[in-house]
Amino acid sequence: MNPPIDLRSDTVTKPSQAMLSAMVTAEVGDDVFGEDPTVKLLEAEVASLLSKEAAVFVPSGTMSNQIAVRLHTRPGNEAILESDAHIRHYEAGAAAGLSGVQLYPVKADRGILTAELVEANIRGGQEWDPVTKLVCIENTHNRAGGTIYPLSTIEEIGEVARRHELAYHLDGARLWNATAATGISEADYAAPFDTISVCLSKGLGAPIGSLLVGSTHLIRDGRRVRKMLGGGMRQVGIIAAAGLFALRNNRSALSGDHQKAKTLAEGLSSFSAVELNPDDVETNIVMFDITDGRSALDVLESLAGVGVRMVPFGPTRIRATTHRDVSDDDITTALDLCSDVLAAR
Ligand SMILES: Cc1ncc(COP(=O)(O)O)c(C=O)c1O
Repeated sequence: MNPPIDLRSDTVTKPSQAMLSAMVTAEVGDDVFGEDPTVKLLEAEVASLLSKEAAVFVPSGTMSNQIAVRLHTRPGNEAILESDAHIRHYEAGAAAGLSGVQLYPVKADRGILTAELVEANIRGGQEWDPVTKLVCIENTHNRAGGTIYPLSTIEEIGEVARRHELAYHLDGARLWNATAATGISEADYAAPFDTISVCLSKGLGAPIGSLLVGSTHLIRDGRRVRKMLGGGMRQVGIIAAAGLFALRNNRSALSGDHQKAKTLAEGLSSFSAVELNPDDVETNIVMFDITDGRSALDVLESLAGVGVRMVPFGPTRIRATTHRDVSDDDITTALDLCSDVLAAR
């Protein structure tokens, strides 16, 4: 049997030969002493791409988000985010565990908060209220199915945050995908935020690495929090080189991933056991529901049996994600293989 077609996540990609070569030949130094030239270059390039003053390289998107939460809050404060946010669901309770912060989830259509929703949920007027200090949004929004925030909405939420003296953080693990889909630059998306987390290890295909981006003083403080969390690394230019390679070479392929996701969604929507509107697919994430009474886990086991891997996102909900290590032909093959399990009409 052929190797499975792995649509579980865009994090499953393996470094290409060219990326590995860049890693092997990277110039390195002790980054805790600030002496790794490759890390410095990566931090400078990402800061410049987002038109911010500074960036700090960290091992993961989780660490990057959590440094931001720590920077913007004190224990007992509250952070508003969309109820399906990664920071709430998949970061092991870190905001509470590491920063003593209460998350205030607000449900929003397709994961997209609005200025009105944010403003209506700010608290702190009474002595017994938790004090809201931070608003976090996610672009693109993973659990909502890779949805993209309209730039105007990002800006309007930013105005509310400023008016109420709240910090504003973007979980931009897949900001690159938003840019690839809309043509709006990363810098324009980043402008209203105090801090932005971006990941190199998702669609861009690097094995490790994220950056927190913001003002010089916030990022200087962020370096201390990184150290506190054990994220100060030594000759880490080896990894930063993969990130630089990904940043410079792999952003342009993301629109191809989006096209593959559309094709996949159109194919899946033709199966009788599937509920899915292909128009809902904006980037590289496809969410669908199973409607024939089977659970997502049962269906996923059957799909794995025929050589297609996806992940559960609810009792009957499944996520498939396209990435640079699946080809157009793989998508055609995956749909063929799925048809046995998902009952072609
Ligand atoms: C939207 C979003 N934010 C943050 C992260 C965390 O990244 P990491 O797995 O590098 O900690 C992910 C991971 O998939 C994500 O999808």
